[in-house]
Amino acid sequence: MSKTIIVSNRLPIKITEDENGYALQPSEGGLATGLASIHAQGDNSWIGWPGISIDDPQQQAYFTSTLQEKRLIPLFLDEDEIKGFYEGFSNEVLWPIFHYFPNFANYNLQNWETYVRVNQKFLELILQVAEPDDTIWVHDYQLLLLPGMLRKALPDASIGFFQHIPFPSQELFRLIPWRKELLEGILGADLLGFHTFDDVRHFISSATRLIGTNNNANRLEVEGRAVFVEPFPMGIDSKRFADLSQAEAVTNRVAELRSNFGGQKIILSIDRLDYSKGIIQRLEAFELFLRENPAFHKEVTLYMIVVPSRDMVPHYRELKDHIDRLVGHINAQYGAYDWYPVAYFYHGYPMSEIAALYNVADVCLVTPMRDGMNLVSKEYIACRKDATGVLILSEMAGAAKELIDAIIVNPNNIHDTRDALLAALNMPMAEMKKRMKSMQAIVFKFTVQHWATLFMNRLQEIKNEQSTTK
Ligand code: G6P
Repeated sequence: MSKTIIVSNRLPIKITEDENGYALQPSEGGLATGLASIHAQGDNSWIGWPGISIDDPQQQAYFTSTLQEKRLIPLFLDEDEIKGFYEGFSNEVLWPIFHYFPNFANYNLQNWETYVRVNQKFLELILQVAEPDDTIWVHDYQLLLLPGMLRKALPDASIGFFQHIPFPSQELFRLIPWRKELLEGILGADLLGFHTFDDVRHFISSATRLIGTNNNANRLEVEGRAVFVEPFPMGIDSKRFADLSQAEAVTNRVAELRSNFGGQKIILSIDRLDYSKGIIQRLEAFELFLRENPAFHKEVTLYMIVVPSRDMVPHYRELKDHIDRLVGHINAQYGAYDWYPVAYFYHGYPMSEIAALYNVADVCLVTPMRDGMNLVSKEYIACRKDATGVLILSEMAGAAKELIDAIIVNPNNIHDTRDALLAALNMPMAEMKKRMKSMQAIVFKFTVQHWATLFMNRLQEIKNEQSTTK
């Protein structure tokens, strides 16, 4: 019986360290719940980095055996690998280019070499557990070379690849000095999945124009093998968010937050610290809104959570300083002894607190400059049982292709966002509910479980076709 091996840079569980020693905690993000149903079956396993650098071989062995019980296989990275592979190449070349920030890219040969070496390290660990006809599902931009390496080592394996971030126009992608190697790496898979049709189109034009791959629509021909490129828009575990919203601890917290803010309207903003999220432009739009609408002073608060992320990468550190300054400026300029326009928190929070905030928010303001999908927008919708609340969503997020009943804005146009805020805060109840219900129909139907099953079924279908044509 063949098995499925999930491979992603991060394991769904991370090892953390504090003064009391080491602990295991769930990693951030929706991937863990989404793939839980696949991971739970048979002998399936999951390979990835546990999020911490541990050099002591004895400790590594301890965590390897502890995690083995959960069929999780940790791949340990040393400090140099974290710097070159994770911070350097993944997050200083691929992340900025794929999110249309070419000026932030730092093309460093040594980091590229470390990226190749770490992808190779993933390969070696997979080969210790994989059988020739297993299914291997590789995730995201940190592992673009891995499908190609796997194809060479396990020619008959069924290999899927899903990218969680955008795939840029070939005019952007071609800027990367190692574009050919990256494309050849990705094309080792049998099925390539992206969130949107535009990402699919961009990938196909990069492959055909930059390395001359032959294609017939979304079917590419690679060394006599068929490779399919298809959109699979990722959803969330909607029921989990809906159930959480009904939990007593959450409803109590909602009541507490509501009474803290009196009758004020709450505009919610939640992101990881990232320049792709449009946090600066969002603050500028809010400032413009405050400047032009004194009637809303003391009537509204922007509740802004920024979750610390990648703060060893210079552009992230600079962004943090910029946000701090801008929030300080807005609060100093417009605030009063009994009102801060922006309630700003630079922390991660447990899911229950986030669910409470989704339930308290009259408006959820999601304005990335570029985002593969954006799950915050879907989580907000899943939590709004009474169908109230307004979502303002950037047209640059993959989610905007599905959530067409949000107020859609161009995040570069702060006047547009200001108008959206005004429209959201004044929206009649009937319109609000109509929009919310139609978005809920989508979010509760196209869940992350649905996404994972669809991808796996399609990969299986491709494999079956290949074996009948052999
Ligand atoms: C995005 C990426 C993921 C990544 C996550 C958190 O969602 O698509 O691959 O894991 O950000 O970023 P981090 O660098 O902390 O893993």
